Formats: sequence, structure tokens, C-alpha cells
Amino acid sequence: MDTRPIGVFDSGLGGLTAVRELARIMPEEDLVYFGDTGRVPYGGRSREILVKYARQDTAFLRSFHPKAIVIACGTVSTTALDVLRAENDIPIFGVVGPAARAAAHVTRNGRVGLIGTKASIRSGAYERTLAKLRPGLEVTARACPLLVPLVESGRFRPGDIVAETVAGEYLAPLRERGVDTLILGCTHYPLMKAVIGAYMGPDVSLVDVGEQCARWVKRQLELDGLRNQRPGAGRRRYFVSDSAEDFSDLASLFLGEDVHGGVEQIDITAYE
Ligand code: DGL
Repeated sequence: MDTRPIGVFDSGLGGLTAVRELARIMPEEDLVYFGDTGRVPYGGRSREILVKYARQDTAFLRSFHPKAIVIACGTVSTTALDVLRAENDIPIFGVVGPAARAAAHVTRNGRVGLIGTKASIRSGAYERTLAKLRPGLEVTARACPLLVPLVESGRFRPGDIVAETVAGEYLAPLRERGVDTLILGCTHYPLMKAVIGAYMGPDVSLVDVGEQCARWVKRQLELDGLRNQRPGAGRRRYFVSDSAEDFSDLASLFLGEDVHGGVEQIDITAYE
């Protein structure tokens, strides 16, 4: 039994897809979330900058003495997972492995689609992991740089003509390719699941990387004897590097609970 919190971070709202699932399957765990809303989007940045941000995000979360850290961000998971693991003496979880395992398991025709940020697609990390798990899978990958700004502006619902048009343009080659499984390789994308699902059609399975990662974290904490077994609901705290108000509105909507009042703004540059 370990009552320390689990730290979770992302560039903004996206990591809440992992938080929502973590809270659903492990309601008794305390969670500390950091969304780097002052510096979102991460996806177009260089490796050097991403490693610097990832170290600062981790240093902030470590000030809460967590038992594990979840990188609820495809961009950082594909770019800085090894660095963070080498520098930290607690478990560090990324989204790539769990998502690739789910996709390799789910696909029937062996054609897997992958969408992510520029940095994630450039890294080739999802393809490398898929090739190890199930050699011979055909992976069609596409960077979708406009999706994160759309989600952060709250433009992710069905009927939003801009969201539908942009998503359709990115997804057209994947639909043409006949993929039966689509990895939403950035944690922001599941917020657009309804739009993406409507375009791809009911026969395409969507793999939500935040959700898959949360399930993997639960399994690993159980194996390592790190679960918090105390009865009652855990405490959830949210921190951001820009306006708490803007984040709270969208976070409350997505999480289905009012987080206004539970979100604090911090200066992330003070952490190294
Ligand atoms: N949600 C993150 C990801 O999974 C970051 C996206 C971004 O900030 O560009 O890639």
C-alpha cells in the first residue's frame, strides 16, 4: 500500500483523457495534474526544448513526492521518455507502449492508422514499437498540427464546421488506405473522438492513448504493490502555467465535474 499521489502532465487539456480514466478505474488514488497551458502546443517544438519542458514538468510534479509519474502526452512520451526514466528513481509511464499494444491486438486487417503531433510522427516511436509487437503491420502515419490548437480553443464538438473540415482533411488518406484501427497518438485527440469517429466510420476502432496508458498504469502499480487501497475518494489537484479560468471551463466540461476552484496557476520556469 502506497498513499503517495500519482503525478500526471501534458502540455494542456490532453492529459485529462488519462486523468479521466485513472480516476474512473482507481478512484481512491490521489492525482496531481499539471497542464503546461502557457507553452502549449508542444508538438511543433525541437527535441532540445521538449526535453527541457519535460524536465521542468517532472520537477514540478516531484515536489508533491509522487509514487509514479504519467507522461500523458504523446509528444513527450515519444521524445523524452528515456531521459526522464534515466533521471528519476520512481516509475515513469509513457503512452506509446500501451497504445501500440492495444492497436496490435485490435487490428484485423493489419492496417493501422496513426495520427499525432509533428514531433511524435517524426520520432517514429509508435512504428518501432508496433513493429516489435507484431511485425508486418502496415502503418500509415499523419501529423495533424492544427488539431491541438482547435481542442485548446474548445473547437472539438460534432457540428463544428472548422473542426470537421480540418479533421476530414487530415484523415482522408487514412480512410482511403482502409485502416481498421486508428491510434489517436496525441492525448488531445480523444476530445475530438466524436468528430474523428464520424469521419472514419463505425468499422474503424479508435485507440485512445490516454485511456490505454491509464489502464497500464493500474496494472503496473498493482504488480509493484504501489496501489492505494484506502477506502474513499482520492484528492485531485490541477495546476496550469496560464489562466486557471480558461482551463477550468473546458476541463470541467470534459471531466464531467466542476473543477473551478481546484485549479491553480504556477510559474513552471521556476522548476529545473
Ligand atoms: N497532448 C500532447 C500530445 O499527446 C501535446 C500536444 C501538443 O501540445 O502539441 O502530443
